[in-house]
Amino acid sequence: MEKNILTLGIETSCDETCAAVVVNGREVWSNVVASQINIHSLYGGVVPEIASRNHIKVIDVITKQALAQAGVTIGQIDNIGVTYGAGLVGALLVGVTYAKALSQAAKKPLYAVNHIEGHIAANYITDKNLCPPFICLIASGGHTSIVKINGYNDIETICSTVDDAIGESFDKVARVLGLPYPGGPQIDKLSKQGKPSIKLPTVLLKDGNFSYSGLKTAVINYCHGIRQNGGEVNPSDVARSFTEAAIDGLIIRAKQILTEKKQNRLAIAGGVAANSYLREKLTELRKNGYEIFLPSLDLCGDNAAMIASRAYFQFKENLPIAADDLNAEPSLR
Ligand code: KG4
Ligand code: ZN
Repeated sequence: MEKNILTLGIETSCDETCAAVVVNGREVWSNVVASQINIHSLYGGVVPEIASRNHIKVIDVITKQALAQAGVTIGQIDNIGVTYGAGLVGALLVGVTYAKALSQAAKKPLYAVNHIEGHIAANYITDKNLCPPFICLIASGGHTSIVKINGYNDIETICSTVDDAIGESFDKVARVLGLPYPGGPQIDKLSKQGKPSIKLPTVLLKDGNFSYSGLKTAVINYCHGIRQNGGEVNPSDVARSFTEAAIDGLIIRAKQILTEKKQNRLAIAGGVAANSYLREKLTELRKNGYEIFLPSLDLCGDNAAMIASRAYFQFKENLPIAADDLNAEPSLR
């Protein structure tokens, strides 16, 4: 029997300080998330400097908690994975610097992890038998694309947004409706009571990419128009109409790609993967013979278990460890 590989994951790309221990890339022994949402919601969005300062305060405690909850010491860990991009530069630097120091002090190899590749790896934790190839729909706060996973370390981008990301547009529409940050989950809740009564533009462009800025502007113009005429916006109907417009185009395109690439397995990744309308629509696709993979809800948002999983597959296929001068890469693609 092969030896178990224990990976410590560290994630600080935005407003969550996270550490986790994952075994063989698939089995979570601990997954600690310290959220700063309550602080940032006072400002209506993430304030980068406040995020960095809070990561610094808790990163050591959170990492020790992750080790303790997993019942292991740092000595028993085989390797470490840390998010080095994309994200807020100051926030990333906290995780990268901490992980580099820990890796050198404890003499454990360090793997530099791309945050979005981490989101994709959340699927390997939820579905223990999932392996490439498959198509993955990435829907997060900063990214919207559909990719083909040819191998654990071979990801081919097929199409993506030409402007805003889907999560960003959820957050902006929420703000117009006066909902607190982060808006995605609030819109999700509201839309369940609403009707798709407002005509909005599709996000699917003729060339197969997506555009979310037109949809966002259409919603903003609709709300301003009603208010200027002394009317009242129905937030649930706006939320429902927006959600359907934001998600239907993604699903249409995902189905086209599954056909073009002769695949029938589709996974989703990123914070918006928690959206109930998206999950419902994808679940319905199972009736048409598609195999659909949905990460469990606790693995959709930012967490370090997905980062540890991703690092494990880098280790497993002998990808190089991080260089000593590893730096944060806020715009990593
Ligand atoms: O993946 P993530 O942590 O961000 C990046 O890595 O970029 O996702 C955060 C995004 C936010 O925009 C948030 O509003 C959105 O995911 N989100 C949702 C839901 N839960 C989180 N959007 C729609 N429905 C949800 N249930
Ligand atoms: Zn994320």
